[in-house]
Amino acid sequence: MNKLIVSLLLTVGISGIAHAAGDATAGQAKAAVCGACHGPDGNSMAPNFPKLAGQGERYLNKQLHDIKSGKRTVLEMTGLLTNLSDQDLADISAYFASQKGSVGAADPKVVTRGEALFRGGDLAKGLPACTGCHSPNGTGNAAAGFPHLGGQHAQYVGKQLTDFRKEEGGRTNDGDTKPMQSIAKKLSDEDIAAVSSYIQGLH
Ligand code: HEC
Ligand code: HEC
Repeated sequence: MNKLIVSLLLTVGISGIAHAAGDATAGQAKAAVCGACHGPDGNSMAPNFPKLAGQGERYLNKQLHDIKSGKRTVLEMTGLLTNLSDQDLADISAYFASQKGSVGAADPKVVTRGEALFRGGDLAKGLPACTGCHSPNGTGNAAAGFPHLGGQHAQYVGKQLTDFRKEEGGRTNDGDTKPMQSIAKKLSDEDIAAVSSYIQGLH
């Protein structure tokens, strides 16, 4: 591991609030309303709706708290979480985390560039390898809250990276130390397209 990744890992750290433990069985019924967009088992069909199946429980729970409080804006989910308790959010997170995520296909034209970025970063730009936090097979690090990326829709991944790159607005819930904002600013549009496509086929 290079020094940059080690220092980034240290600053991201294991922080945040301890949440109630989730019950996946109870969560299945509570997640029924989510299925219309995210798929009943969390494998959404539409490329702009993220897959939730197999995503880390801690990461899911954090996103749900951020979406509920308005720290992360998801217009499509406006009002949906208002009446859900902390326990409900924990149960729903446990349910989707327990499901098996499906995998898509990478575009063969950009897969070489995407793989090189994902696995090696770009030394000249000071860009760390994505594997340092999201793991070599894209499963992330559930305990640390680093999200699972493998198999996620390329369109959704590309939108997140573009949002992270924006100075203001867009997606700003990037953990406590905002590692993705500085990382995404080092990615060109072509880099984002290539790495997003690679992630869609990664398993
Ligand atoms: C009308 C469609 C719709 C419904 C219904 C919906 N969502 Fe979403 N959800 C979205 C969209 C769109 C996004 C991504 C927004 C973005 O691009 O940042 C999202 C994002 C998320 C994320 C963040 C995923 C990630 O990888 O960061 C979670 C978690 C989530 N939704 C959970 C839920 C849960 C739980 C429910 C049911 C209580 C639900 N959603 C219902 C459309 C929906
Ligand atoms: C230093 C650790 C670190 C590195 C290196 C890193 N990430 Fe991340 N990434 C994170 C964390 C932490 C989050 C979750 C932020 C949050 O809690 O909102 C994240 C979130 C994401 C998301 C949003 C996932 C979702 O479901 O919405 C994408 C996409 C992503 N990273 C892609 C990448 C790519 C591509 C690279 C390599 C170019 C990369 N990351 C490198 C730590 C890292």
